[in-house]
Amino acid sequence: MARVRTTHRCRSCGAVAARWQGRCPGCGEWDALVEQVEAAVRQGTAVRLVPATGERPQPIGEVDAMGAVPRPTGVGELDRVLGGGLVPGSVTLVGGEPGIGKSTLLLQALAPRSHREATLLVSAEESAQQVRRRADRLGCLAPGLHLLAATTTDAVLAAVDEVQPTMLVVDSVQTVADPEVGHTPGSPGQVRAVAAAMAAMAKRRGVAVVLVGHVTKDGDLAGPRVLEHLVDTVLSFEGDRHHALRLLRAVKHRFGATGELGLFEMGERGLQGVEDPSGMLLGDRQPGIAGAVVVPVVEGSRILLVEVQALVTATTLSNPRRSVQGLDTGRLAQLIAVLHRHCATNVATLDVHAAVAGGVRVNEPAVDLGLALALASSSKDRAIPADLVALGEVGLGGELRQVGSTPRRLAEAARLGFRRAILPRSAPPPPPGITALRAPDLATALILVGL
Ligand code: TYD
Ligand code: MG
Repeated sequence: MARVRTTHRCRSCGAVAARWQGRCPGCGEWDALVEQVEAAVRQGTAVRLVPATGERPQPIGEVDAMGAVPRPTGVGELDRVLGGGLVPGSVTLVGGEPGIGKSTLLLQALAPRSHREATLLVSAEESAQQVRRRADRLGCLAPGLHLLAATTTDAVLAAVDEVQPTMLVVDSVQTVADPEVGHTPGSPGQVRAVAAAMAAMAKRRGVAVVLVGHVTKDGDLAGPRVLEHLVDTVLSFEGDRHHALRLLRAVKHRFGATGELGLFEMGERGLQGVEDPSGMLLGDRQPGIAGAVVVPVVEGSRILLVEVQALVTATTLSNPRRSVQGLDTGRLAQLIAVLHRHCATNVATLDVHAAVAGGVRVNEPAVDLGLALALASSSKDRAIPADLVALGEVGLGGELRQVGSTPRRLAEAARLGFRRAILPRSAPPPPPGITALRAPDLATALILVGL
């Protein structure tokens, strides 16, 4: 007989409470606990998360290390982010806003290996005909690629039994459901049940499973974080839907680093890896505009040249507006304060908009100098020279500090035709083709670039 136990799980943080409470004991949010039947405690149906071979203790030296070796998908930029490819038996969640290109990416990722082996694409959103037409158009009609239009976990598991795929894509985890769990599809309880069933199957059979997850504007994936700990890898697929550039990054990765960035361009023939990201990011740059500075940033193992833009305008508000895209809000506030205190450049009482062009996010302090110059350039309405890149961290005293990988960053700048770099005094010598303008502090840097 099934033993039914109900618990209360928080919609926001996933915390569990035995009884309903008005306020979540985990995150403190009000009215966030929802009752759910714990699927895993039904007797005899406990979800098994460990592979059969892992149940007996083994001397560590006898454990098969090859089991966790990634296999390339054949989509270069995806393999770059994954550190080589998908690990057999692993579960990867690909999150992104509707329309960003998740279904396209995963169809393209299934196709290469489907010429040699069986794979399975479960589409719970689009009909088999729709997927077939897309596969036609993208050149993904590989003989081993099997298609199932279904919406229940049982149907997925039965199809896995039949096809014996090495890779399974479930599109999406919010539209497939386990009817026994008794929640509506897409609810936290369902999403967890589906992911747990897929994870158990993946580990048991050594199938590389990829779950597609729709993410809302504020980044929630069916109630934030309900899936993150159930899967091995979480990839986030981002970009501006109206712009062709798409960025893929690892938010969590059990098998490797999370720093690599994958870059794609969405076009007529689906997603293509971007060969020259800096060239693409700077493609629409208009030299001579005030408030724009190019900065070479490190993204994983790559150097990207990004354009940092600032727009400073008079405000009608008592609390001036700060709108920031792709940059750290805290650092922006800090740079505004440093400009005010040490460089006699007051933007603190003005509206400030700051952004990185192309939808790239930059978190490293190396962008400080470029952002500070962009702010000053906009406030004085004078452009800084077009052949110049800026690189350096700005301290609270206005002093400039050198950043890592300076020679590599400048070599990439030289390749793209930049001739001068404004750098902290202590920075290593620039590579051939770049002349260094060295400054001990931000005030001197402003003078050197004519601001
Ligand atoms: P899709 O992969 O369906 O997005 P998601 O699964 O994340 O919702 O693709 C979304 C958009 O991409 C769609 O609006 C059409 C566009 N697109 C192209 O521009 N070229 C193509 O070759 C394909 C397949 C899609
Ligand atoms: Mg889709």
